[in-house]
Amino acid sequence: MKEVKVTPIKDGTVIDHITPGNAVKVLHILKIPESTTAVVSVAINVTGKKGKKDIVKIENRELDPRELDKIALIAPKATINIIRDYEVVKKHKVELPTEVIGIAKCSNPTCISNAREPVQSRFHVVCRDPPRIRCYYCEREPEDVADRIV
Ligand code: CTP
Ligand code: ZN
Repeated sequence: MKEVKVTPIKDGTVIDHITPGNAVKVLHILKIPESTTAVVSVAINVTGKKGKKDIVKIENRELDPRELDKIALIAPKATINIIRDYEVVKKHKVELPTEVIGIAKCSNPTCISNAREPVQSRFHVVCRDPPRIRCYYCEREPEDVADRIV
């Protein structure tokens, strides 16, 4: 199988090994294009050494831990590569903690985390791959996790 050739970047972050088809969701999580001035390249359904994948490359930006947890919820096999002067200087896999707080919205409209009082959403991570989460308050498990990310 041939490895894809996608233009290298000079400085920034490459999110590699994204679940095929989920790059657009990653862009959404990173608020691209709504608020971006960044240079971004996206590859969807490209063939890598381990089969099909998506890739998102963002120049001159590093991601914060909340963004990384959100990415782990829709692309559990993703790797984050920090690029400096064309070299990969850091590489790590996304890894969900056992609990995620304030990054997804419960699908139960009567859940206390959806009430007017400010109770932050809180989910237990039941499975990392494929991602499954269960509400700490009402125990509801959303069917489509990607859909619940705030
Ligand atoms: N990359 C890039 N620009 C660079 C260097 C790397 O866009 N200047 C991208 C590569 O295209 C690849 C990812 O960053 O998608 C990781 O690069 P590298 O570690 O060199 O690739 P692999 O060894 O194939 O990575 P892995 O083992 O994680 O699959
Ligand atoms: Zn709930």
